[in-house]
Amino acid sequence: MIKVSVIGAGTMGSGIAQIAATQGHEVCLYDNFDGAIDNATKKLHKILNRLVEKERLSKEEKENIISRIKFTKDIKEIKNSGLIIEAIIENLEVKRKIFGEIDKLVNEDCILASNTSSLSIASIAAACKKAERVIGIHFFNPAPLMPLVEIIPAVQTSDKTLKNTKNIIDKWGKTTVIAKDTPGFIVNRVARPFYGEAIRIYEEGIANFSTIDWSLKEIGGFRMGPFELMDYIGNDINYTVTETVFSAFYYDPRYKPSFTQRRMMEAGYLGRKSNRGYYDYSKEIPQPTKDRDLAKKILWRILSMLINEAADAVFLKIATKEDIDLAMTKGVNYPKGLLHWADEIGIDNVLKQLQDLQEEYGEDRYRPSPLLRKMVKENKKFY
Ligand code: NAI
Repeated sequence: MIKVSVIGAGTMGSGIAQIAATQGHEVCLYDNFDGAIDNATKKLHKILNRLVEKERLSKEEKENIISRIKFTKDIKEIKNSGLIIEAIIENLEVKRKIFGEIDKLVNEDCILASNTSSLSIASIAAACKKAERVIGIHFFNPAPLMPLVEIIPAVQTSDKTLKNTKNIIDKWGKTTVIAKDTPGFIVNRVARPFYGEAIRIYEEGIANFSTIDWSLKEIGGFRMGPFELMDYIGNDINYTVTETVFSAFYYDPRYKPSFTQRRMMEAGYLGRKSNRGYYDYSKEIPQPTKDRDLAKKILWRILSMLINEAADAVFLKIATKEDIDLAMTKGVNYPKGLLHWADEIGIDNVLKQLQDLQEEYGEDRYRPSPLLRKMVKENKKFY
């Protein structure tokens, strides 16, 4: 079994190290910050102890997992690895620098992967002499629990690197999907309207936060409403992803961030972690207006926008339709794959809703994907 090294022992890095060690790999977890190593060690012990308490792991298994992980501040310890996964801060220059260093330290056949959520894999790969062995492996938080992993080959990545990477992550029991090296990959691109359109509906005064959340859960079957979810993720993090995707798409109005969320972030109303976001968690959450007709309209508007994103991702060959549906159900727990959903409600109905919105608002934000028009013309379905 190959040795796996993880660079960066923060939230994602320590979770990824836990997965690899649980799968039986010898793991090296490197961080250049003393506090991070101590924290990761403590956190991992705590998580594994809890699994022992819940009888999901024996004491012996726990000891074996811990003994397989070497926590280190010395980057030279990553030598002889077969796979490196980088999970340091989301900064291109810092990532490029560390990839340049790693590239020189490890053997020729070692795969170099980044867990970046938004940076270009091509740009990271270009910092390495052997760029064909660089790839994106994007886990979701918390990594040990979330089944989805997006695998992102850059233009430089070889087929062999892609095949070997997919094999390893599949063996770890994860659901893998392959995405093109474009902003937001699959999930962080396709999911934008879940937040953006919900905020827009609120801004227009159509409904309040709890009514919009209720609509998506009650009629749509979503596990969490958009505002609850943004409060859970953190308005700072969610806003930054939106802004990054927006600028990376050369300011396509479809991804435009909102002032409402920006002000939340600026006010320090970050969500659950600050006890206040869209909701004030020190008080009772306001009751929704349980008007099913209004709820259907709200769901329908957000859902058509989501389907439009998913269809456009198929149109632009970001991923296969199967992988896009898998990504949204396994990465963000959507009740159904969006393209399956589109077939169910009728692509002509989705197109009509988008055309109505575009006509009403005159905004490019609502432009339908050419694929939807083509499918309606040809009377086709996704499946
Ligand atoms: P974090 O802030 O929890 O951890 C980053 C760690 O990297 C820290 O321990 C820090 O000491 C270390 N570090 C920073 N610069 C370093 C360097 N030059 N050398 C060695 N160690 C260094 O960050 P988090 O949330 O774990 O994110 C890491 C990466 O994963 C980012 O690229 C992020 O975009 C991505 N990601 C984050 C997700 C999340 O929900 N937090 C989800 C999926 C991807």
